[in-house]
Amino acid sequence: RVLRIGLIPGDGIGREVIPAGRRILEALPSSLGLKFEFTDLQAGFETFEKTGAALPDKTVEILKNECNGALFGAVSSPSKVVKGYSSPIVALRKKLDLYANVRPVKTVLTAAKPIDMVIVRENTEDLYVKEERTLDDPAYGGKYAEAIKRISARASSRIATMAGEIALRRQSLRANGVSSIHKAPLVTITHKSNVLSQTDGLFRSTAREALAAPRFSGTVNVEEQIVDSMVYKLFRQPEAYDVIVAPNLYGDILSDGAAALVGSLGLVPSANVGEGFAIGEPCHGSAPDIMGQNIANPIATLRSTALMLEFLGAEEAAARIYAAVDGNLEEGRLLSPDLGGKATTEEVVQDILRRL
Ligand code: NAI
Ligand code: MG
Repeated sequence: RVLRIGLIPGDGIGREVIPAGRRILEALPSSLGLKFEFTDLQAGFETFEKTGAALPDKTVEILKNECNGALFGAVSSPSKVVKGYSSPIVALRKKLDLYANVRPVKTVLTAAKPIDMVIVRENTEDLYVKEERTLDDPAYGGKYAEAIKRISARASSRIATMAGEIALRRQSLRANGVSSIHKAPLVTITHKSNVLSQTDGLFRSTAREALAAPRFSGTVNVEEQIVDSMVYKLFRQPEAYDVIVAPNLYGDILSDGAAALVGSLGLVPSANVGEGFAIGEPCHGSAPDIMGQNIANPIATLRSTALMLEFLGAEEAAARIYAAVDGNLEEGRLLSPDLGGKATTEEVVQDILRRL
């Protein structure tokens, strides 16, 4: 099987870590039956300065028409408002209907508080439909603003189904040698339906229903938790979570909070996923403070590459990459400076390629 992958390094350290993603794909053993082809694509602030578009139409067309998946580095946002500039990854999610944002957060098993969870965030609706308005009414003391929180059964159902499928796949990755603290698949549905009985209530009941489907029932355990008490437990007892599914806003907050539990942004991957398409994206930004020094941690990108493969149906290849990364972290001999080590980006990549 041939997979064509679009490479969008973007700005800053994106250009140092995305090549590592390409190299690990090229290093996968041919016995897995996968062949990769690559297309270099432009997006980001520098692209905006050169061409006037942060996300050129050509990039979107090639992704749509020629690629099976993509790797996206990071883009710098200008510190002041720049006319005509808007975030290319936000636009990509819309244009390719990437309705889920998936963020695994994992430490080594030997950590003082080992964690191995994945947050599955609905990415198209909720408060982020951006239907806001500012009004004026003496009843509210003058000026006030309001925003629509839109939750549909369709979007809630497909995101919960994806969470269930991820829970099953994680079980099968464990069977394929990927280390984990979990033994049985668990999906936690998070919401605030005690207050928002209609919107979050719909999310909750639809997610419950989707996860009661025959392929999950009996295998995937399902529980639910109110989002505020979830934050408390996430910090106190993060090992209790396997897969978390959340509406857009709670998912955004939970996924950044969870990333803080593992020590470095340089470890945390993500994927933007739609029907038959996935973009792997490290969760960190362009890190101008360390760019050009060959010290950026490539692991977030390598894990994002594996995550992308999971959604392209190349689970065994993904398992190999996860295991190689875990091996590097567990041994702890060649770590980048963000993890307290002295290794360069190149040395970390080479160690992981060797393990692969
Ligand atoms: P950042 O994630 O770029 O950096 C935060 C801190 O973490 C810095 O000290 C950086 O050196 C460190 N860090 C990040 N990734 C690392 C890695 N792989 N290895 C080692 N250390 C790493 O966030 P910051 O500084 O707030 O933003 C910098 C630029 O990136 C801004 O222009 C911002 O808008 C953009 N950004 C882009 C994102 C994206 O493209 N998805 C996400 C977050 C920020
Ligand atoms: Mg965020």
